[in-house]
Amino acid sequence: MTTSFKSSVFRRLEGKVALITGGASGIGESTVRLFVQHGAKVVIADVQDDLGHSLCKELDSQEAVSYVHCDVTRDTDVEKAVDLAVSKYGQLDIMFSNAGIAGKLGSTILDSDNEEAKRVIDVDLFGPFLTAKHAARVMIPARKGCILFTSSMLSTIVTAKAPHEYVAAKHGVVGLTKSMCVELGAHGIRVNCVSPYMVATPIFQKIASGLNKTEVEKLASAASNLKEAVLEPEDIAHAALYLVSDEAKYVSGVNLVVDGGYSASSSALTDAIENLLSQN
Ligand SMILES: NC(=O)c1ccc[n+]([C@@H]2O[C@H](COP(=O)([O-])OP(=O)(O)OC[C@H]3O[C@@H](n4cnc5c(N)ncnc54)[C@H](O)[C@@H]3O)[C@@H](O)[C@H]2O)c1
Repeated sequence: MTTSFKSSVFRRLEGKVALITGGASGIGESTVRLFVQHGAKVVIADVQDDLGHSLCKELDSQEAVSYVHCDVTRDTDVEKAVDLAVSKYGQLDIMFSNAGIAGKLGSTILDSDNEEAKRVIDVDLFGPFLTAKHAARVMIPARKGCILFTSSMLSTIVTAKAPHEYVAAKHGVVGLTKSMCVELGAHGIRVNCVSPYMVATPIFQKIASGLNKTEVEKLASAASNLKEAVLEPEDIAHAALYLVSDEAKYVSGVNLVVDGGYSASSSALTDAIENLLSQN
């Protein structure tokens, strides 16, 4: 294998600079690890400072990773994070707008809490809006770049009991993806989103009444369409890697759903038909 072929296979982000919001935990953390492995310089932007700093310390052998405190709902925080990427590493090629919170599982529209609903929409929709806006600020003059959001499988299929504000925000992220890809395509910038099925990360463990990782995976497997496989944060990181890499150079405006076919299936209808057949 020639050296240049090897590096294009194993270091698909060589020379690129990425900013990852929500990079201190879960899907974001896995993506930080994978992007660094593929040669990118990465700025982790999160509100969990201890986790962010310790990940940085663990990975940073050649100053390839930095951490910045950044609440994605605050314009000045996002501005500062983008400016840090540019001042420290010279450019910003990839904005992975991934930070999110979930809201309360099982709440009905009547018992939902207004302040909590506003907070979810603020973090999960206004946050991506701000991160994309500041990324575009530096990508437009460079006439290149790639913005990737994390939406959710709930942007394509709705499960009863999911918090309305979370579902609405994640649909909004798909709208943002399409709307921004149309404007920013003129500047050579691609915009996509990735939509995961249930992954056992702290976000899900928190809303699912403190279930541990194994219990969340068991729940996800029981409901899944694709059997014999468990969706892990690394799988979403690999989907993100594809979408931000040069292999996807003409892919824009896409919502890549990573759900093992869940959104294509209707288990309720299958159950009803099976029920009917068993009665005959
Ligand atoms: N885990 C799942 O089942 C699942 C499924 C579909 C979509 N998602 C989405 O994936 C994304 C990542 O979530 P995860 O599963 O890795 O959970 P996680 O809780 O492990 O990670 C979320 C990260 O976002 C950070 N964050 C929260 N609010 C923030 C803010 N205001 N500013 C900056 N950072 C903030 C948290 O500190 C955390 O590090 C989220 O957008 C989530 O909605 C997750």
